[in-house]
Amino acid sequence: MTKLNRETRRLVVRCLKPTDYLTWQAAHSSMIEPRNKWDKKNRSAQELSRSHFRKILHSHKKQRDEDRFFVLGVFHKKSHELLGNVGLMDLQRGISQSAYLGYTIFNRHWGKGYGKESVLAAIDIAFKDLGLHRIEAGIEPTNRRSIFLARSLGLRKEGLKKRAIFVSTRNRWVDLLSYSATCEDFGIKWKGKTQTRPH
Ligand SMILES: CC(C)(COP(=O)(O)OP(=O)(O)OC[C@H]1O[C@@H](n2cnc3c(N)ncnc32)[C@H](O)[C@@H]1OP(=O)(O)O)[C@@H](O)C(=O)NCCC(=O)NCCS
Repeated sequence: MTKLNRETRRLVVRCLKPTDYLTWQAAHSSMIEPRNKWDKKNRSAQELSRSHFRKILHSHKKQRDEDRFFVLGVFHKKSHELLGNVGLMDLQRGISQSAYLGYTIFNRHWGKGYGKESVLAAIDIAFKDLGLHRIEAGIEPTNRRSIFLARSLGLRKEGLKKRAIFVSTRNRWVDLLSYSATCEDFGIKWKGKTQTRPH
């Protein structure tokens, strides 16, 4: 079975499980006001309920089983606090073996290097556990924090994709800067298409 978890210097990056409910609820309840338009918004009481959390876990599992979308929680190793999440999204197998990178750190914890540490773990999982060849972060040109992070990870800026995604909350198509890497950029040899699908 594929691992899909990593311990780093300060963090544990892994799938969420039912026993994480109170940790997850505490993390979402203790956010400060959104610091920019890409920051997480506060959830309603209903969205913080245990039944809603179960639905989220169910959806994460379904997407993993379909080899489509992997969401991983970012936990502090010592305090066990949930600090954010990282995702490998819209996996393509076939000839591209690629995924988009997603990442969010709860805003109380910004600027402490958790973004970089957790995304590096997600990249390692993408190349070693999921057998992907390429990852790409699509970043809006004004999202400076995310651009700093992509640069600091050593991702390659490949250009601007015009009207690349539809953002339903803003009801418009937005341009994205593409930052990417292949496994070779991280000194990892691609294993070929024999990868076992994760469970
Ligand atoms: C983007 C985000 C994940 C960054 O998380 P973070 O934990 O604050 O990031 P880090 O502390 O690891 O910082 C990443 C790098 O950016 C650098 N950085 C951060 N702010 C900076 C600034 N104002 N000027 C220059 N560099 C800066 C850091 O120094 C670090 O680089 P280094 O390790 O080489 O020093 C976080 O701001 C977030 O969740 N934003 C909202 C969601 C979002 O935008 N997601 C991405 C959508 S594409």
